[in-house]
Amino acid sequence: MASLAIGIAACNNTEENKKETKEEMKTGIVKSDWGTTDGKQVYLFTLTNKNGAQVKISNYGGTITSWIMPDKNGKASSVVLGFDSLSGYLAKPPYFGATVGRYGNRIANGKFKIGNDEYTLATNNRKNALHGGLKGFDKVVWDASPTTDSVAALTLNYVSKDGEEGYPGNLKVSVSFSLSDNNELTIEYNAETDKPTPVNLTNHSYFNLTGDVSNTILDHVLMIDADHYTPVDSTLIPTGEIKAVKGTAFDFTKPEKVGARIDQVPGGYDHNFVLNRKDSSLQLVATLSDSLSGRKLEVFTMQPGLQFYSGNFLNGTFKTNDGKPINKHDAMCLETQHFPNSPNESAFPSTILKPGEKYHSVTKYKVSVQ
Ligand code: GLA
Repeated sequence: MASLAIGIAACNNTEENKKETKEEMKTGIVKSDWGTTDGKQVYLFTLTNKNGAQVKISNYGGTITSWIMPDKNGKASSVVLGFDSLSGYLAKPPYFGATVGRYGNRIANGKFKIGNDEYTLATNNRKNALHGGLKGFDKVVWDASPTTDSVAALTLNYVSKDGEEGYPGNLKVSVSFSLSDNNELTIEYNAETDKPTPVNLTNHSYFNLTGDVSNTILDHVLMIDADHYTPVDSTLIPTGEIKAVKGTAFDFTKPEKVGARIDQVPGGYDHNFVLNRKDSSLQLVATLSDSLSGRKLEVFTMQPGLQFYSGNFLNGTFKTNDGKPINKHDAMCLETQHFPNSPNESAFPSTILKPGEKYHSVTKYKVSVQ
């Protein structure tokens, strides 16, 4: 079955799927074995709400593997990229649906200082550290505890050891996912440390609201509530400048097609937007809509930044479950986060978590059909 159409049996009404439909339509959470890696058991959890929307999440990498929703014609398909087997993820796709940490996005030269202590991280993106290093949170097996079998919610826990990928301090992290009957997928991050350390947690889902990579995301219409963005150097590290979007291809304050001005952005969009926000409460920061499917995505977050990545490095290496190559601009990410390279930019909001403090952040993705 296609990755962007996996699990459609759950919502198809054909005779042949009737039995499965009945079983799968049960709301709540279902746990299935999904293989092993690193000597640990991997599971796939299926969260289903009253309306038949279904999100699958694995404790491998805290990965959202599919999010099945009907389109305006009632045809169900997944709005995110993902694979239906663990082997797809062990082949190291570029963070499809993954929980990213300890530090999502880039840290220049894999180096930073806290006070007088200098730390050197594993570098995995030219000279920079990206998304937590060689074996970030996206490539580890998390401990899993489904909340109950009647509520569609799941909590994953992971202890990142002092020194892992070069980061200081033992970091206890938990990520909870819940799916409401209103088709809201809420992701709550909590963390505590025993030494000061940078923390920047995000989810790396790739959206294509048409549910089919035969359509690129260039016709999706995007709004980002950000009057500023952080320009980058040739290795995608922010220059430090906070630049106004007005009059540039980065102005998404009014809804605009992703592809309308993308030619003016060398390489495509892969930039952090400085969200307009009054405080750090959960608020709507972006919307994405697609007229083909009638689907709309709303992004709510407590984070100060949003990385808009237009799938520029997708190059056909990875294929959907039904064998379609996933190419440039076939999907896009809206990663809620702190700004890239914050540990080296004192003017950016701080990402340093200290012992005794609690990291707490919530992001909510809501999909509706119009
Ligand atoms: C992030 C980065 C991109 C790219 C992708 C993964 O979103 O900002 O530059 O590395 O992850 O390919």
